[in-house]
Amino acid sequence: MNIGLAWPIVSRFRRYVEGLPDGGVQAVGTTVRADGFDFPFSHQDETTIAYRGRVDFTGHSGLLHVFIEDPEITLHDGEALISIADDFEEPRGRMSFARGAFVREVVDGVVILVIAEPRLTDESCDLFNGAYASGALIDPIVASFPDGRQPVAAR
Ligand code: HEM
Repeated sequence: MNIGLAWPIVSRFRRYVEGLPDGGVQAVGTTVRADGFDFPFSHQDETTIAYRGRVDFTGHSGLLHVFIEDPEITLHDGEALISIADDFEEPRGRMSFARGAFVREVVDGVVILVIAEPRLTDESCDLFNGAYASGALIDPIVASFPDGRQPVAAR
């Protein structure tokens, strides 16, 4: 089973960019699929699962440039928050992107989280030039990662 983050980001935004005369979608370290992007798993700790890779959306002669880099999922109070790297902060910070309830299952030692109805945060709706409201529904996110639980050691 592939371990990674299967994430369309915002599919209607991708369609908009791909429809621009000079629109482009460039991926580095992620796999581009018709229905989204696969960001490879990087590492995890108790509450955060980190993925790596970057996707740049460009168009309108350079006026439009949105990039999504190194997404992480943080679990808190039954909710999953997806954040992205914020290169405009020094030192490099993180920006919350979307949040939503998740369901979790384990298949063959791989944890699969499905966030069926993620919603944009206040911070991320600014990224899109005000076209989407805070709380706007975006595409489902499927995050997989190795099951960190160790087998119970014989004592
Ligand atoms: C020269 C500057 C720009 C022009 C002329 C322009 C024009 C437009 C037009 C005409 C639409 C409606 C498209 C439609 O309904 O299919 C639109 C939608 C949109 N624009 Fe721009 N735009 C510009 C810059 C930007 C920038 C800098 C961003 C930053 C991300 C942006 C993000 C969006 C988004 C997110 C939508 C909504 C797409 C959707 O979900 O349907 N635009 N823009």
